[in-house]
Amino acid sequence: DVLRLAALREGIRAVPDFPVPGVVFRDLTPLLADRAAFAACIEALASPWRGQDVQAVCGIESRGFIFGAALARELDAGFVPLRKPGKLPPPVVEVDYALEYGTDRLQARNDALRPGQRTLLIDDVLATGGTLCAARALVARLGGALLGAQVVVELDALRGRMRWGEGAPLRALLHF
Ligand code: PRP
Ligand code: HPA
Repeated sequence: DVLRLAALREGIRAVPDFPVPGVVFRDLTPLLADRAAFAACIEALASPWRGQDVQAVCGIESRGFIFGAALARELDAGFVPLRKPGKLPPPVVEVDYALEYGTDRLQARNDALRPGQRTLLIDDVLATGGTLCAARALVARLGGALLGAQVVVELDALRGRMRWGEGAPLRALLHF
């Protein structure tokens, strides 16, 4: 298991000063391109949530879609995209949030979740936590029952976990 996580780490490339000076960007595309690493990643993301009757996986645009769709299949759940503004047809519900670099807004179809639907949030990277907390607020507005959140990478120094709090489990596969 530790060996497998070490192999996954090697699929993540550090890019200094992207997209702005001072940010070390964690690029997950090498991991995605490696079929064994991608498969191991999805399996590792799914394993803590198996047997919890996850009914919907909500993935955050855009990199959360890549992991979220694969994870939804792995957990035999539906997939719900939480999208940047202007992408989904109305009626939508939306939440504004601040990002590590900039501000943004997340939207979902107003009927994307059934009341009480057992829902898991997924994204590639937890940075400041603004995005994931906005996604959580969106799930609440949609009436979903949030089981927790899963990310591939947590950037510990940015303290997104503090922003998330302790009301629902937040799992990260890898920490930088
Ligand atoms: C990135 C990343 C997370 C978010 C994390 O997405 O994929 O969604 O930022 O940052 P936070 O924890 O500080 O909110 P980005 O907005 O760059 O969009 P993208 O996936 O379309 O590249
Ligand atoms: N790497 C990748 N994605 C991100 C980052 C980062 O440092 N910050 C916010 N999204």
